[in-house]
Amino acid sequence: MPATPTPTGTLAQQRNADRELNAARLLRASAKHSYDPLTEIDWTAPVDPDHYALPAHRVALYGTPLWDRLDERQRAQLSVHQFASTTAAGIWFELVLMEGLIRHVYANDLTTGHAQYALTEVADECRHSTMFARYITATGYPSARPTRRADLLGRLHFLLNDTTMTFAGAIFVEEFTDAMQREMIRDESLQPLARSVARIHVVEEARHIGYAKPELERRWAAMTPARRAIFRRALAHLAHHAVAELVHPRVYTLAGLDPAEARRAAATNPHWRQARIDWSRKALDFFTDLGILTPTTTRPWRRASLLP
Ligand SMILES: [Fe+2]
Ligand SMILES: [Fe+2]
Repeated sequence: MPATPTPTGTLAQQRNADRELNAARLLRASAKHSYDPLTEIDWTAPVDPDHYALPAHRVALYGTPLWDRLDERQRAQLSVHQFASTTAAGIWFELVLMEGLIRHVYANDLTTGHAQYALTEVADECRHSTMFARYITATGYPSARPTRRADLLGRLHFLLNDTTMTFAGAIFVEEFTDAMQREMIRDESLQPLARSVARIHVVEEARHIGYAKPELERRWAAMTPARRAIFRRALAHLAHHAVAELVHPRVYTLAGLDPAEARRAAATNPHWRQARIDWSRKALDFFTDLGILTPTTTRPWRRASLLP
C-alpha cells in the first residue's frame, strides 16, 4: 500500500519540484546562450595602452594625491592592471566555487536537473577562468596567483566543506562582479577586450545567481539560530576578503608606487568606498530580505566598506 504523504513529505516534494523547474529553465538558457571565449574573443587584436579597462572613478586610487602624480597613460594602465587583478581574484573564487559545486553534485543524483545544472555551471566557470587567464596574459599582467591570505582562505573552505557558504559566497561575488561589469559594458570608451570579457561573464553569471539564490533560501530556512549566528560572521568575513583581493598589491608595484602607501590611500578613498558599496548593494539587499543581514549585524559589512 503506498504511504500517505505526511505534510512535511508534501512540502519536500513541492520544494524538489520547484528546484527541478528552476534547473530545467537554467539548462534551457545555458543551451541557448553559452559562449566559448577562446573563439568568441579576438585575442590577437592589439591592446591600446591609452584605453581604460574600468571607468576612471572606479579605480581604487582615483581622486587621491597618488592619482594626481600619474599621467593619463599611467592611470589607464593602472585601471587595466586593477581589472586584470580582479580577473585573477575571479579565477581564485571560481576554483573554490567549482570545488563546492562538484561536492554538491557528489552528494546528489546526477539524473536530476538540479545536479546536471551544477555541472553546467562548473563548465561555465572553467571557460570563465580560462578567459580571465587569457586576459591577464594579453594585458601583460604578471600572474593569476591570489594573495597568500586568499590562498589560505580557499584552502580553509575546502576543509570546512560548507556548501551553504559556497552558495552565499557565490551570490555575493557574482552580484558584485555583475554590477561592476555592467558598468564596463555600458561605457563604450573602455578597452574593447575588457568589455568583451565582461559581456560574456555577465550573460552566464545571471544564471548562476538564479541557481544559488533559491538554494541559499532553502538552506538558510533550515538553519538553527546558533548556526545562523556563526554563518553571518563567516559570510561577512568571506565577502571582506574577496573584495580585498580585487586589487592585489602588485597592481601598485607595477605602477611604480609603494604598495603600502597606495593601499592606505585606497583604504581611505571615499570614491573607492562608494564603488564597493554600489557593487555590493544587490547581494546585500538579498541577504537583508532573507534575514542574513539584520539591523544588528551590519557592523562587519560597514567596516569592510560594503555598506554605507
Ligand atoms: Fe564566472
Ligand atoms: Fe559564476
